[in-house]
Amino acid sequence: MAEKRFTIIDDTTGKRYSYPVIESTRGPNGVDMRTFYRDSGHFSFDPGFTSTASCRSEITFIDGEKGELLYRGIPIEKLATEHNYLETCYLLLTGSLPTRDALVDFDFELRHRSFIHEGLKNLFDAFPQDAHPMSTLSSAVAALSSFYYEHLTINKEAEYQEMARRIIAKIPTIAAFSYRHSRGIPFIYPDIGRSFTENFLYMLRAYPGGKMHITKKGENTIRPIEIEALDTIFTLHADHEQNASTTTVRSVASTGAHPYVAISAGISALWGRAHGGANESVIEQLKMIGNVKNVDKFIAKAKDPNDPFRLMGFGHRVYKNFDPRAQILKKYQDSLKEELDLDSNLMQIASRIEEIALSDDYFIQRKLYPNIDFYSGVILTALGIPRTMFTPIFVIGRTVGWISQWIEFKKDRDQKIVRPRQIYVGP
Ligand code: ACO
Repeated sequence: MAEKRFTIIDDTTGKRYSYPVIESTRGPNGVDMRTFYRDSGHFSFDPGFTSTASCRSEITFIDGEKGELLYRGIPIEKLATEHNYLETCYLLLTGSLPTRDALVDFDFELRHRSFIHEGLKNLFDAFPQDAHPMSTLSSAVAALSSFYYEHLTINKEAEYQEMARRIIAKIPTIAAFSYRHSRGIPFIYPDIGRSFTENFLYMLRAYPGGKMHITKKGENTIRPIEIEALDTIFTLHADHEQNASTTTVRSVASTGAHPYVAISAGISALWGRAHGGANESVIEQLKMIGNVKNVDKFIAKAKDPNDPFRLMGFGHRVYKNFDPRAQILKKYQDSLKEELDLDSNLMQIASRIEEIALSDDYFIQRKLYPNIDFYSGVILTALGIPRTMFTPIFVIGRTVGWISQWIEFKKDRDQKIVRPRQIYVGP
């Protein structure tokens, strides 16, 4: 079959430039324009990379029009309902779901790697008590590169996997320590007798000595429904192809820096309110609105072109129909109403916003739909997780995605140091 090509014509000179088409297995094909500047003397201009593919990837696929999300070819709906977060991690890292034995080994390894070096604990003392856990988390993950400096030069599959498992296992511990530091309460070490997700809730909630909160009726335990809800949230956040934080991780990887500082940079990028920081802002905003009666006023603000106010948890660069992760969480939220103590006032405000926005021309024309962050906050609030920990929870879920993308980047012979060009318009 003849190679497909794509031609660009310069209207000024009439010159034609022809480029090979790169065929995808799903979604739009690409055009290999690497020699465009050399051929034509022009740069392409695409701020925010809305039309630019920066890599070939086999990890995650999103169809924004259909509202489809696949990890390694498996629909997110299937993973969220039939598999747990650790299976999803294994899938993203290796390309296939684990066998029963492989899962046991993977789980065992993560449990045993969940401790952090005693020296790293001292770092937390250097932070003011009111430090946001995201700031402590990104710093501690960067510091981890000095404890495992040997990962700087890795290039074998087994080494990649060890590095990946180490960071995935330690991130929940660092996140929990960051939170406990911000409260001025003693750190709780991981309990290797608990599963990944249960252990994180335990490290957030337990008292020294490993006791959970004790009421007059006895000791509160971590309920299976809470573990399941959080585990699903981790799965839904596990990867999302070339978003801002993943692109940051790949950019840092391109310079040859240590993988853990690349992850730390990804954490910093995720913190922004336009990205993962939105989940914290959604609840802040719902609380600020305060009452269903005030919703119309805030919708009007969101629509006012002279007002910078945006509805947090609405809109997405890629999803232009619905965010499948949001749909899963919404269903989940509805089914959990009874079992988890969901804040009914917040839910009423959220439902009203959703109702108006889904039928209002402003939102319909701009294809603005609720995204995952719109729903995760209500569930996390019901789990007793403080707002400042919402984005760290996103980090815990996403670390496997970042690290899988880092590994893919390292193996990709086409990749170069990231170095975009500019169109100079200064003096
Ligand atoms: N509320 C009100 N108006 C909005 C919103 C919003 N949440 N989002 C976009 N718009 C409007 C813009 O004002 C713009 O209107 P205009 O065409 O009249 O100027 C139009 O919709 C397009 O917006 P852009 O900013 O160009 O869209 P972009 O794709 O660059 O941004 C983004 C996507 C950043 C997610 C944006 O929708 C946003 O800021 N949303 C709120 C924050 C949020 O929820 N972020 C989480 C994203 S999901 C995630 O990272 C996990």
